[in-house]
Amino acid sequence: MVATLEFQNVSKSYQTATGPIEALRDFDLTIGEGEFISIVGPSGCGKSTLLSMASGLAFPTQGKISVKGEPVSEPVTDLGIVFQTDVLLDWRTILDNILIQPEMRGLDRNAYRPRALDLLKMVGLEGFEKKYPYELSGGMRQRVSICRALIHEPPLLLMDEPFGALDALTREQMVMELHQIWLETRKSVIFITHDIQEAVLLADRVIVMTPRPGRIAEIIKTDLPHPRRPATMETARFISVVAQIRHLFEKHGVLKAY
Ligand SMILES: Nc1ncnc2c1ncn2[C@@H]1O[C@H](COP(=O)(O)OP(=O)(O)OP(=O)(O)O)[C@@H](O)[C@H]1O
Ligand SMILES: [Mg+2]
Repeated sequence: MVATLEFQNVSKSYQTATGPIEALRDFDLTIGEGEFISIVGPSGCGKSTLLSMASGLAFPTQGKISVKGEPVSEPVTDLGIVFQTDVLLDWRTILDNILIQPEMRGLDRNAYRPRALDLLKMVGLEGFEKKYPYELSGGMRQRVSICRALIHEPPLLLMDEPFGALDALTREQMVMELHQIWLETRKSVIFITHDIQEAVLLADRVIVMTPRPGRIAEIIKTDLPHPRRPATMETARFISVVAQIRHLFEKHGVLKAY
C-alpha cells in the first residue's frame, strides 16, 4: 500500500501566556492510499491539531509529517477539508460555493462546472445548484461542503467532526452517504468524530486517543465487510469493536465505568 500521509513520532506543544500546553505526544501513523481512518478521542486530545499539521497550517514541535513522501513545510493545497460547520458563503449560489475551490487555485471554473453538477447529483442535490445556502437544511449544506472539498479531486480528505452540528437522523444518513462517496472515489480520508459507532461504521482502522497530551491508545482494524450498511451495526463484529473502544475509554478515564 502506498503511503498518502505519514506522521512520524509527532509531538506538538503550544506556547501560551500561562506556559506551554502539550497537545499531542508521539503520534505515529501511516495512512495508505484509499484508506479510511477514523480518529476518536476526548475533547482537547489534539485531533484538530493533527489535521492542522497535516494541512501545513501548523507544525510539529517534534517529529515529521510527510505527504506522499514529501515533508510538509507549507500549506498543502492538494487536499480537501470539511469542518464541523459548513462555512458556505451566503451570497453565492450552491454551484458558486463549490466552484470557489478552482477559482481560488486560479483554475478555469467553467471546466469544473460539469464535475460540480455530477458531485451535487452524487450527494442527492441535483437541481439545487442555483439555490442559496439559506434555502438549504443543515444536512444539505454539509453535503455541499463535501462537494466543495472534492471538486479539485484531492487524493486526501480531512474531516473534522463534519456531522457534529446535525440531528441524529440526518447524521446517520450523512454517514451512509459519506461511505457511498468513499466507495465511489476511494480517497484517503481522516475522519474525526466523538461518535464511536460512526467511527467504526466508516473506517478501515480506528485510532483511539487518550486524554491530553493525546497519545494513541490503540489502533483497531475494523475488519467489517463492504459495503457498510445500517444493518452492519447489528453484527457481532461491529458490536465487539464498539465495546472494545468503550473499554479503552473507561481504562483511560474518558468514560466513567459503571
Ligand atoms: N492555537 C493554540 N494555542 C494554544 N493552545 C492550543 C491551540 N490550539 C489548540 N490548543 C490546545 O491544544 C489542545 C488540543 O487542541 P485540539 O483543538 O487539537 O483538540 P481536539 O482534540 O480537536 O478537541 P475537540 O474534540 O474539543 O475539538 C487543547 O488543550 C487546546 O487548548
Ligand atoms: Mg477539534
